[in-house]
Amino acid sequence: MLYIGVDLGTSAVKLLLMDGEGKIHKIVSKEYPIFFPHPGWSEQKPEDWFTQTMEGIKELIAEADKSQIAGISFGGQMHGLVILDEEDQVIRPALLWNDGRTYEECDYLNNEIGKDKLSEYTANISFTGFTAPKILWVKNKEPENFARISKIMLPKDYIAYRLTGVHCTDMSDASGMLLLDVKNRKWSKEMCEICGISEEMLPKLFESYESVGTVTEEIAGELGIPSTVKVAAGAGDNAAAAVGTGTVGEGMCNISLGTSGTIFISSKKFGVDKFNALHAFAHADGHYHLMGCMLSAASCNKWWMEDIIGTNAYADEQKEITKLGENHVYFLPYLMGERSPHNNPNARGTFIGMTMDTTRADMTQAVLEGVAFALRDSLEVAKSLGIQLERTKICGGGAKSPLWKKMIANILNLKVDVIESEEGPALGGAMLAAVACGEFESVEAAAERIVKIVDTVCPEEELVAKYEARYQQFKEIYPACKPLFEIIK
Ligand code: XUL
Repeated sequence: MLYIGVDLGTSAVKLLLMDGEGKIHKIVSKEYPIFFPHPGWSEQKPEDWFTQTMEGIKELIAEADKSQIAGISFGGQMHGLVILDEEDQVIRPALLWNDGRTYEECDYLNNEIGKDKLSEYTANISFTGFTAPKILWVKNKEPENFARISKIMLPKDYIAYRLTGVHCTDMSDASGMLLLDVKNRKWSKEMCEICGISEEMLPKLFESYESVGTVTEEIAGELGIPSTVKVAAGAGDNAAAAVGTGTVGEGMCNISLGTSGTIFISSKKFGVDKFNALHAFAHADGHYHLMGCMLSAASCNKWWMEDIIGTNAYADEQKEITKLGENHVYFLPYLMGERSPHNNPNARGTFIGMTMDTTRADMTQAVLEGVAFALRDSLEVAKSLGIQLERTKICGGGAKSPLWKKMIANILNLKVDVIESEEGPALGGAMLAAVACGEFESVEAAAERIVKIVDTVCPEEELVAKYEARYQQFKEIYPACKPLFEIIK
């Protein structure tokens, strides 16, 4: 049988066709615009996601035996607020995960409701990108839109709804709404009350690998697929990426270098970061995970390459970087503010340390290193909780760069296992569909069968020592700049 994995990303939707053996038959990508109506805001149109997903599926299965298609599922950009009216029409563009406009609502939640209460109700505190503060923002700033809300959902759930007619979400993605009692895997009545919404407005909860229903006759007809095709709930993109890299079960780690950068640690037991710097979320395998999320990762490199120095030749530019561990330039990668671990929407991108002999390659190197140092900040929080890691998987667009993988291995001092396919969320989505269709008995069984490690990048003692010294310097830069970020905001 064949399974479709849909990775509803921030810059594009990626679609992947996989068979029951885990063989990838085809990958298709379709872009859509992102809108920044004010500095620090970011929005997309749910209709664009749906149109491009449908176009992508058509292209993906054009040469396939469509009668063999059995299931569809997702990895989706997390936290985005999609609101529908009584007729299930989208009320306003979605507010995305990297939108920083809700700082007043976050302040209210974290300081007036209180972090202790939030943590008790949801296992997490409020960050500007999370969904609950966005609901409060609409309530406070757009009361006419708030009054029309009949259904609230996350980005990939809108696609599932359009495919099946079912209002659904999954535990991993729901965790990032700050509305889920993560430990008990149910909606938090207290949080609904705080946000002024009823539980009926929220989608029905499923585990990621459960079928929410089948495609509608209309969708089956448009795509030329059987109307028996099941749609599985899917997962937030990081949980789906973890499935796609085999980061399931106890104590495994995955790093994703996409628009955002995440470090994801799977666990069979529920656990909370007592500092609340890491998110404590449900995992797509039915268990839990901790995650640090930086808002700009591969997007820093894209910004630097394409918008600033004006080139698409990523590999050529990186060829000029020869002195690892010896750069005198540092870069703070906070182009959209920062989530983990600083939780500061006012943080900004910063270069520091340039001299007259600084080269373009030094600056490029600083951007790549800055992202790796910032991931290390989240790793340090995990270590302080007693979590010991020796190795990690890696996925996302940035994982295509051998140089960046080497920096990650040495800056985080972790062995980096490279998977046959770096298409984490799309592959994870297809695997979740396969589990929902009974091809595998569990997510862990699917991962064991499908995910193959093809290479390992090992840390090198001398380079680890050089980077350790540089990380100690990097660590000093954000606290020193923090008061300035308040002034220049
Ligand atoms: C995770 C997060 C991002 C988005 C990116 O908390 O906000 O990784 O999911 O799509």
